Amino acid sequence: MDKILVKGGHRLAGEVVVSGAKNAALPILASSLLVSGGRSRFSNVPRLRDISTICTLLSTMGAKVYAHEEVVEIDASGVSILEASYDLVKTMRASILVLGPLLARFGEASVSLPGGCAIGARPVNLHISGLEMMGAKIRVEHGYIHGQAQRLHGADITFDLPTVTGTENLMMAASLARGTTVLRNAAREPEVCDLAICLRQMGARIMGEGTATISIEGVDKLHPVEYEIMPDRIEAATLMVASGVTNGDFLIKNCPLDKMAAEVAKLQEAGLAISPVGKNGEPGHNGVDVRVVSQRPFTSVDVKTMPYPGFATDMQAQFMVLMCLARGTSVITETVFENRFMHVFELQRMGADIEVEGRSAITKGSGKLSGAPVMASDLRASASLVLAGLAAEGETIISRVYHLDRGYYQFEKKLQALGAHIRRETATA
Ligand code: EPZ
Repeated sequence: MDKILVKGGHRLAGEVVVSGAKNAALPILASSLLVSGGRSRFSNVPRLRDISTICTLLSTMGAKVYAHEEVVEIDASGVSILEASYDLVKTMRASILVLGPLLARFGEASVSLPGGCAIGARPVNLHISGLEMMGAKIRVEHGYIHGQAQRLHGADITFDLPTVTGTENLMMAASLARGTTVLRNAAREPEVCDLAICLRQMGARIMGEGTATISIEGVDKLHPVEYEIMPDRIEAATLMVASGVTNGDFLIKNCPLDKMAAEVAKLQEAGLAISPVGKNGEPGHNGVDVRVVSQRPFTSVDVKTMPYPGFATDMQAQFMVLMCLARGTSVITETVFENRFMHVFELQRMGADIEVEGRSAITKGSGKLSGAPVMASDLRASASLVLAGLAAEGETIISRVYHLDRGYYQFEKKLQALGAHIRRETATA
């Protein structure tokens, strides 16, 4: 298994471009199953392990998938295998996103239950109950969700809690259902909106995305689309923390600043100077480029993760690293997932003073970290360990970096280009 080695203490400077959003690309690629005739073309698709996984899954179903650099073209007219097998789903939970499209277009689906992961049990009961309200007959046995439906029909569905992929699955299913579906207490994430915009360009009739109530009037057919995936707000916020932890001063290009208000507010409160710029870094506001300057000493800031537009749970681990370098005590409360503090134990090995009490982690900032061998446990935890390595005195060796590759495209190369002393050691077979 690959390792990443980081020598800390080097200031980052220059400019970096944010890649396409993994969590927008996954549902959007899955939505190609809804199109019965012709090839859709998706651009700005990040070249990530999870993207390869969903492309493989769609191909095994019979779709024709052409991936070249950041472009993926999919023709799902030939899909005949209505199954997502355990050996694929176990590597990527988001495979559950084919369930809604398969039931909507074919009236049949067998999708492996995703099961839990390092950060929590991650049930899919809300996906299933919503589809049942739309007329699907669902049987869960031997680790698989078997669904059947003559034709899904509209329903008025209220989620117990805002679920991102649950909202996406049901929005896709409702696009081809008979009648109108209303999703209440729906997820408002920008990635949900990106999917809705793409579906509308396919011919779906969707209103209200980005609010807690989304209504979808089903149509009989959707047509192929050309669509550009939105930039990744979590990668962008992670890069902002990279500036903070290295006393950096650099440009982040293609940054969806308007979709990061909660995270930017907390980073600025902690002491980062984050300002929109014109082209080539001049003062101005071209809407896509941002300059991030670290202004130490950092202030300790409390954070509570919440569904969008609150502070993203996917930024919790990265923000904690910044708090290790602040002066004071920060309380970070994780309200979305029940086990998303695995990175704490690794940061403690790097000298961090963090106490976990229930859903909260209390970080007493010491202003420094020391390099150590550490192990990644999940996607965002691995990003936080890279950030810690950038700040730490000495060398940090991060193992199990396949977690990182699921969500960050060539992350160490992007950081190298900014001046980080970081390299990947590829394990010989
Ligand atoms: C999406 O996961 C993201 N993944 C996650 O990103 C992200 O952390 C999460 O949303 C929250 O923002 C993708 O978009 C592919 P949820 P998802 O359903 O949809 C509970 C990353 O790092 N719940 O919004 O699986 C659930 O247990 C990944 O890129 C149910 O109880 O998350 C959790 O406590 C990690 N029943 C809460 O809702 C359900 O049927 C939110 O989960 C569904 C969810």
